[in-house]
Amino acid sequence: MTDRRAHITGTGMYVPERVVTNEDLTKLMDTSDEWIQQRSGIRERRHVEPGEETPADLALHASRRALEDAGLGPGDIDCIVLATLSAQADFPGTSFFLHERLGVGDIPCMDLRAQCCGFLYSLQMADSLVRTGVYGRVLVVGCEVHSTGIELATRGRDVAVLFGDGAGAVVVEASDGAPKGSEILEIRLHAEGRHAKKLWVEYPNSCFPGRLTHELLDAGAIYPKMEGRFVFKHAVTRMPEVLLETLNAASVKLEDVDLFLFHQANLRINEFVAKSLEIPPEKVFNNIERYGNCSAASIPMLLAEATRQGRLAKGQLVAMTAFGSGFTWASGLVRW
Ligand code: COA
Repeated sequence: MTDRRAHITGTGMYVPERVVTNEDLTKLMDTSDEWIQQRSGIRERRHVEPGEETPADLALHASRRALEDAGLGPGDIDCIVLATLSAQADFPGTSFFLHERLGVGDIPCMDLRAQCCGFLYSLQMADSLVRTGVYGRVLVVGCEVHSTGIELATRGRDVAVLFGDGAGAVVVEASDGAPKGSEILEIRLHAEGRHAKKLWVEYPNSCFPGRLTHELLDAGAIYPKMEGRFVFKHAVTRMPEVLLETLNAASVKLEDVDLFLFHQANLRINEFVAKSLEIPPEKVFNNIERYGNCSAASIPMLLAEATRQGRLAKGQLVAMTAFGSGFTWASGLVRW
């Protein structure tokens, strides 16, 4: 075995300009700023201008910023792994449209589907590809346009108020010997498919001829369905579990972690997790108040903001933990 390790050498994020406040949503559905803030901590989120901005546009801006941060150009990367649950097209997904926009020659690209854990799943894949020498540099992107796929009406309010649009990206590079950036120390992933239907979009569905009917469309079957309390309960159990498993595997104590980045599904989930592990609130960085739940994009967006706001300094330990549809849960530890 060589001493080849994988490092994060650049981060970037991008959100659409259009701010949608809780107050704005009250004009579309029966809800209130108080209900949304109390249950989720969200004050506002970003939505694309429909028809004007695509998922690949968001991913492009975030990717360019991550590449610039790494001191690289699009021609320097060997592979793109893009995590999303809101693909630009059913197939080929989103990564191919990003591939075209970035102008990267004929390197491989792929969409990875692990919902809100998609970034950490992709990061483990990039880490493995880089450490085994398959590729030297992998661009990992999390990108979501939720606003065009939620029901912005009272019928869909339980889900619609929670989600926002955004993208985040990191560059993962190999180093032999001397550290090059922020070293990926450990990533642990899990899934439990028996709960797949607790948070999912049922239609269009390839089990059925035609995949969709007018009746299903009218019934709102194309919108996400979620058993909120069931998801909440599992999230607050699985997140501490996988975080401790990851730290244990890396022989790192909880108190030695400098910054915790939790998936941004609900501020209450994150407060619950931090409290159960006795993590001081000042060690947790959140941005859900401003962006809502951006699924696969949430953690790379946090990474990009935390570094730019000086919350994450060189040499510090950052732990990232997520839970999402599938169910999936995952955690990663990086020496920044
Ligand atoms: N505005 C106002 N009222 C709303 C509402 C909204 N946007 N959405 C739902 N309600 C109503 C419900 O209809 C219900 O009314 P009822 O009591 O008259 O039936 C009431 O509020 C309570 O709904 P409930 O779903 O029980 O609320 P909750 O306390 O469980 O909170 C969530 C809802 C979604 C905030 C919470 O369950 C949650 O965060 N779950 C996890 C979500 C998550 O993490 N998802 C993504 C994972 S990646």
